[in-house]
Amino acid sequence: MMTTKKANIALLMGGPSTEHKISLLSGTSIYNAINKDRYNVLVVGIDHDTRWWLYEGDDFLDYPGQPDKISLKSGAMEVFVRNVDRKVVLMSARGEILKDIDLFFPVLHGSYGEDGVLQGVFQSVGAAYTGVGLMASSVGMDKDLAKRVWRDAGIPIADFICLKKHEKSSLTFEEIKQKLGLPIFVKPANAGSSVGVSKVTSEAEYYLALDEAFRFDTKILIEEAVIGKEVECAVLGNEFPKASVMGEIIPKATFYSYEAKYLDDDGASMAIPANIDTDTSDALRNLAVKAFQTIGCEGLARVDFFLTSAGKMVLNEINTLPGFTSISMYPKLWEATGLPYTQLIDEIISLGLERYKRDVSLVKRI
Ligand SMILES: Nc1ncnc2c1ncn2[C@@H]1O[C@H](COP(=O)(O)OP(=O)(O)O)[C@@H](O)[C@H]1O
Ligand SMILES: [Mg+2]
Repeated sequence: MMTTKKANIALLMGGPSTEHKISLLSGTSIYNAINKDRYNVLVVGIDHDTRWWLYEGDDFLDYPGQPDKISLKSGAMEVFVRNVDRKVVLMSARGEILKDIDLFFPVLHGSYGEDGVLQGVFQSVGAAYTGVGLMASSVGMDKDLAKRVWRDAGIPIADFICLKKHEKSSLTFEEIKQKLGLPIFVKPANAGSSVGVSKVTSEAEYYLALDEAFRFDTKILIEEAVIGKEVECAVLGNEFPKASVMGEIIPKATFYSYEAKYLDDDGASMAIPANIDTDTSDALRNLAVKAFQTIGCEGLARVDFFLTSAGKMVLNEINTLPGFTSISMYPKLWEATGLPYTQLIDEIISLGLERYKRDVSLVKRI
């Protein structure tokens, strides 16, 4: 009987962003569900200092399942990714080759993992990896750049002003109010999980919101508020991406804040499918694929919209490494579309391998 070697998949989680703990929750869910008959799964935990640690087996967490306390276990072996004799390997600090890696599966949210930095590390050693590539990760993470590209493609977005830290006082509150009205949202250009996001209704709140957003980034967005439903679509594929059914977030507070997302069990609820008519849903699904392709995404992303009571569709943002616990929106949307969690993971792996094969065949020397 012929036996084919199981692929070695390095599942990367943690990372230096404010979403470190969320990443551990997403990564653990994937670790538990991934088809281990098909793949050898190696967990690589990335700490707050971007150091990589290789874990043996499934004992990689302290306080698993506790969103406020979960952390990577200490005592693992520090590893470095290298290309040795045209093979991608994990090495120890002493230079021993520990494992060959066939594919990296990053499950990091926010800066370093979702913004192209890690994708650049993979590309620099010629490694195959799942999910969105370097350039689209960078653009997708930067709310300012992404919106400009979408606006150029005729995709509706909320009106916004972008400010760098040194331009903080270049516009008065009156001028901003004139352009965008009230309320407004103030948010870091590169962040996620609603970290640093404020809803502003007065001048006093505006200055507090600026300070808060500038704690997390040197570039921020000030946006007109779009009053309506928050609806989301899961997109999956390389050249021919598919859109899931639409889902709806129903926040209980004034907006979908960090607390509502992760800390308060009653902070928000999800409706899958969203409470919207079929025509609107189809239009949003098409728009989601267009937004995905416009910035060059491949693999997977969650595309988030606002939908006003008048039926106006406004693209809010794209998440190229969306929350991925088994109860997160992205996998739930696929489950409702007929693709269960474990098969979704298989599909993401296949898409990563297919892209790698396609790109590796390009002419590199002339
Ligand atoms: N322009 C806006 N109009 C209305 N609500 C907004 C707007 N921008 C952000 N929000 C609210 O803030 C939440 C977080 O903002 P978002 O831009 O999605 O940042 P993040 O990347 O942190 O999720 C949204 O889910 C929504 O509830
Ligand atoms: Mg969001």
